[in-house]
Amino acid sequence: MKKLLTTFGAGLLLTSIASAQDVQLTVHPDQAQNIIPKEIYGQFAEHLGRCIYGGIWVGPDSDIPNVQGYRKDVFEALKALEVPVMRWPGGCFADEYHWRDGIGPQEGRRKMVNTNWGGTVEDNSFGTHEFLNLCELLGCEPYISGNVGSGSVQEMAEWVEYMNSDTNSTIAEERRKNGRDKPWNVKYFGVGNESWGCGGNMHVEYYADLYRRYNTYARNYGDNRLYRIASGANATDTHWTDVCMKKIGGNMDGISMHFYAVRDWGTEDDPETGIPMGKKGWALTFSDQEYYEILSKALQIEDCIHGHMAVMDRYDPEKRIGLLVDEWGTWYNVEKGTIPGWLYQQNTMRDAVVAASSLDIFHKYTDRIKMANIAQVVNVLQSMILTNEKNPSDPCVLTPTYYVFKQYNVHKNATYVPSDLVCNYISVNAREQVPTVSRTVSRDQNGVMHISLTNMDVSNQHVVAVNIDGMKVKSAEGEIITADDIHAYNDFGRADQVRPAAFKGAKVNKQGQLVVTLPAHSIVTLTVK
Ligand code: AHR
Repeated sequence: MKKLLTTFGAGLLLTSIASAQDVQLTVHPDQAQNIIPKEIYGQFAEHLGRCIYGGIWVGPDSDIPNVQGYRKDVFEALKALEVPVMRWPGGCFADEYHWRDGIGPQEGRRKMVNTNWGGTVEDNSFGTHEFLNLCELLGCEPYISGNVGSGSVQEMAEWVEYMNSDTNSTIAEERRKNGRDKPWNVKYFGVGNESWGCGGNMHVEYYADLYRRYNTYARNYGDNRLYRIASGANATDTHWTDVCMKKIGGNMDGISMHFYAVRDWGTEDDPETGIPMGKKGWALTFSDQEYYEILSKALQIEDCIHGHMAVMDRYDPEKRIGLLVDEWGTWYNVEKGTIPGWLYQQNTMRDAVVAASSLDIFHKYTDRIKMANIAQVVNVLQSMILTNEKNPSDPCVLTPTYYVFKQYNVHKNATYVPSDLVCNYISVNAREQVPTVSRTVSRDQNGVMHISLTNMDVSNQHVVAVNIDGMKVKSAEGEIITADDIHAYNDFGRADQVRPAAFKGAKVNKQGQLVVTLPAHSIVTLTVK
């Protein structure tokens, strides 16, 4: 049930909403069924801007403290985050990446121009070994994006062999000569990226045939079985999914989908610099109206998921093939004074709300969605971590989005518990509304229930009455992520503006009902006993 309480006419008009238990959440533990795969919490690392160089990788000889060349503070923050899977090397970069350029002695590595991202010269000092060893140190699964756009079938086949073969073939011996004896046993393998766009501008019929061909020679080695991922649709293009399901079908394990929360891709020059910036708006300065517009765009990912799932269900009712949202997140104008092609943006409480509510959506569909990878892990788009370009040895900054991912760790590999939510809606424009509250309920492997509640209302608190079928609540404790201002963000030298804190707003009444008071724009996760 929906209650539409607020409307925006020509401008933004927010009604002050009464806070007496205006949200009802009814939890159904008896209907719990699907496991939330930890891979929903995946990351994406592309050779783009300062994601790899200066973000993840500084090299072993750097003055910046590092672990085998990986920036120490970034490495430790990622370790603490328990990243389950990381996608690499792109993105658009993947379809111009030739893996042989990034192996062997550093001094012999070929330099290339990163044509997609700012024309930067890429020295290939971070390659296959550096990425796969990082994943091993972090304890996460690598997800490799193979080059279909400009690479050959042989090149892709040999990359898989190089990474996964334990034979004494020339390619496997080459890996050993380069310092790695045992194969890495890479599981997740993408056959192209955005093949409809930067990955080759293909028609889907052509791509589907190419997929079949490239995939044929990407062999399994030993006991390792590749999880083969087709390059999926541009946002809502269900025709792409339809043709891939029909023509590739049983030859893939998953198909990807990309969806960014963008206000408007349209081009418009920045008045100060003359650089085409689009109308995406700024990461740090935005009105309440813009806040809701981004939120509304982010929540539209659910319609997009529905569209692709409906097509997939027609061909694959047993849901063998996974939908992988392997790029998602907010996308704003780059920060002023930074290189436009490097996609560096700050990250506020708004991004935290987008992250939590997007994860809540993914959790609902894990019978089909098997992975999601936020774009991107460091210094690019909706990042977990930022490093300082001007003073690279400054400590890194953890973003509000990082803290959401950390708080939500309790839902990884937990059983999703369905629930009904009745709340008010906020009208964004004539067609779009956003609910005031978003939620996830799950039960972990020890049987403990966790409830995450996000108040998406920028200015008003909401009070949630929680009833759990068959359970009287005895205690509820947890953590909150919020700030006085929706624009709050962490920056160099003031890295603690947004931090998780103990939550004091959960009360249990005599009837065993839980009542949670959520401050405006806040994310709360409770352990409920
Ligand atoms: O994440 C940035 C870019 O967005 C990726 O390279 C591409 O796949 C997408 O268009």
